[in-house]
Amino acid sequence: MDLLLHDRTYLVTGGSSGIGDATIALLLAEGANVVTCARRPDVLAAAVARWSAPSGRVVAVPADVRDPDAMAALVADAERAFGGLDGVVNNAGQSRMAGLDKVGLEDFRDELDLKFSSVLNVVQPALRLLEHSPVASVVTVNAVLAKQPETRLVTTSAARAGLLNLTKSMSVEYAGRGVRVNSVCLGLVDTGQWRRRYESSGTEEDFATWERQIAADRGIALGRFGHADEVAHAIAFLLSPRSSYVTGAALDVCGGVARGIF
Ligand SMILES: NC(=O)c1ccc[n+]([C@@H]2O[C@H](COP(=O)([O-])OP(=O)(O)OC[C@H]3O[C@@H](n4cnc5c(N)ncnc54)[C@H](OP(=O)(O)O)[C@@H]3O)[C@@H](O)[C@H]2O)c1
Repeated sequence: MDLLLHDRTYLVTGGSSGIGDATIALLLAEGANVVTCARRPDVLAAAVARWSAPSGRVVAVPADVRDPDAMAALVADAERAFGGLDGVVNNAGQSRMAGLDKVGLEDFRDELDLKFSSVLNVVQPALRLLEHSPVASVVTVNAVLAKQPETRLVTTSAARAGLLNLTKSMSVEYAGRGVRVNSVCLGLVDTGQWRRRYESSGTEEDFATWERQIAADRGIALGRFGHADEVAHAIAFLLSPRSSYVTGAALDVCGGVARGIF
C-alpha cells in the first residue's frame, strides 16, 4: 500500500535512536522529507549518516525538546528548508525508573517537562504550518503506562496519563483546523532504553534470554519485546492520509501487554 507520504514533510523529535530512528528511516524510504532533533550531536550525526538520505531531504539539529525557543527554531528550520510541515511525531524521551518513596516534587516537574510540556513546545509553533497542509497529522508516542500505571515508574506513568489526556484535547481542538492528532501507546520495545537497562542489570544471560524472561514476567501476550520498526509502521500509518478518518485514537502497540479493553 502506498502511504502517500512522498514529498511530504515530517518533524520527528528524538530521531537519533530507537523508535525515532526507525520512523525516520521509514519516512525517508517513502520519499518524505524529515526534520529532527536530539541532544547529543555526535549520535545524531551518526544517525544522519546511517540513513544515507537523498541530498536535501533531512534537517537534523542538536536540540532539547524541553527548550521552547529551540523547538520554535526547529519548526522555522522546517519552513525554511521545505516550505511547510505535514506532520509531527512527538517521540523524544526516556522513562524514569522510581517508585513514590524515591521521588519528590522536582522529579514530577522534570518528568512533566520532558513528557508533557515538550509536546506543547513543538505542536504549538507547528500548528500555523500544519493547518496549511491538506494531510496534517500529529502522532504522539506514549506508553501503555498512561492507562495502566506501574508503581516502579510512578513519575513516568503520571506524566504519560496527562499526555494522553492532552493529546485527546488537541484532537478535538485542532480537528476544525484540519489537523488529526493520535497517540501510539507502547509496551516494551527493544531500543536504546532497554539495551541500557540490560547493560546495567549485571545479568550474565544474553539479551534474548533476558528479554524473554521479562516478557513472561510482565505478561506480554506475544512473548517478546516489540521492534522499533513495528512501532514505526504504526506511526507512519497514523501520519498517512490512509488513516484520514482516525483522530483522537490511542493505538496500543504493545504485543498484548495492555489489560484494558479501551
Ligand atoms: N522502548 C520502550 O519500551 C518504550 C516504551 C514506552 C514508551 N517509549 C517512549 O518512546 C520514545 C522513544 O524512545 P526509544 O525507546 O526509542 O528510546 P531511545 O532509543 O533511548 O531514543 C530516545 C531518543 O530521544 C532523544 N531524546 C531524549 N531526550 C531528549 C530531549 N530532552 N530532547 C531531545 N531529544 C531527546 C534521544 O537522543 P539524545 O539522548 O541524544 O537526546 C534519542 O534520539 C520515548 O518517548 C520513550 O519514553 C519507549
